[in-house]
Amino acid sequence: MGAGIAQVFAGYGYKVTVFEPVDGARRSLRDRVSENLRMLGEDSSVASDIVVTEDFAKAVSIADYVTEAVPEKLELKRVVFADLEKLAPADAILASNTSVIPISRISKGLSSAHRMVGTHWWNPPYLVPLVEVVQAEKTDDQTLARTMALLKSVGKEPAHVRKDVPGFVANRLQHALWREAIAMVAEGICDPATLDSCVKNSFGLRLPVLGPLENADLVGLDLTLDIHKTMIPELDRSAGPSPYLEEQVKAGHLGFKTGQGFRDWSSEEQQILRLQLAQHLLRAKQERDNTRP
Ligand SMILES: NC(=O)c1ccc[n+]([C@@H]2O[C@H](COP(=O)([O-])OP(=O)(O)OC[C@H]3O[C@@H](n4cnc5c(N)ncnc54)[C@H](O)[C@@H]3O)[C@@H](O)[C@H]2O)c1
Repeated sequence: MGAGIAQVFAGYGYKVTVFEPVDGARRSLRDRVSENLRMLGEDSSVASDIVVTEDFAKAVSIADYVTEAVPEKLELKRVVFADLEKLAPADAILASNTSVIPISRISKGLSSAHRMVGTHWWNPPYLVPLVEVVQAEKTDDQTLARTMALLKSVGKEPAHVRKDVPGFVANRLQHALWREAIAMVAEGICDPATLDSCVKNSFGLRLPVLGPLENADLVGLDLTLDIHKTMIPELDRSAGPSPYLEEQVKAGHLGFKTGQGFRDWSSEEQQILRLQLAQHLLRAKQERDNTRP
């Protein structure tokens, strides 16, 4: 995510420095960005404008804006922000790309909490437009406004999330769907391939133009209420991860990584799915770019 986010800012002419502690990842970063830009049909020389360093202090000492994209571990993120507080300029904005951790848990005890903000980018950052901008209780309005403006300036669709809840908006919705999907497969209502087909060939087709609340308005809130009276009591409401999911992980069925998850995946099938996804996201980006005023 860090390389992809750096690519977006560099592509709009911002001076970008990436701190990367792992040798191989550091050495390959510009090549990875260059390859992405080639795939997008954009100027790949932009990759060489990105400065990549193993020196944390050097990376952040003159930054106006820092995005943290270290692994999703609360303690690690807390250490990174404690270092940022000491080493980045006192007025720099400090943003976290955490997927689900509330910003207030990361900023707890730090005197920089007012300039800390969540910026939840989606993968890959150069193709997916949304960035959720999470305003924690202590995030000040100026930090929020500057972050929203900066993200707009690089062609993103920033969404202001007013409460610092775990998973923010889009991941809460996504995982509510996944919880029900896993529960249905565990109960034998349908097999995994059928479940995915039901989504892709029905409301999945409408989602790019019709969000769930627009859809409720379209069909009518009275009908929505009638449907919910029958259905809501039946939906899965487990308080923790599904035991079925836990069993799969315990058995080493991790998905693409092991070739078996909800379904079996040959390396060829994995490649085809990844390619289809990249092509779909690229077409959507091109369409957005063509219709932008
Ligand atoms: N992968 C996704 O689809 C996705 C989407 C949105 C948000 N995120 C979030 O972005 C963050 C990064 O996820 P990712 O998938 O890019 O992880 P990743 O493991 O691919 O990358 C993490 C990077 O952080 C580096 N790193 C490790 N320790 C570090 C440290 N102490 N200081 C600085 N860098 C360090 C690693 O070398 C690596 O390059 C996580 O919080 C994740 O939840 C991921």
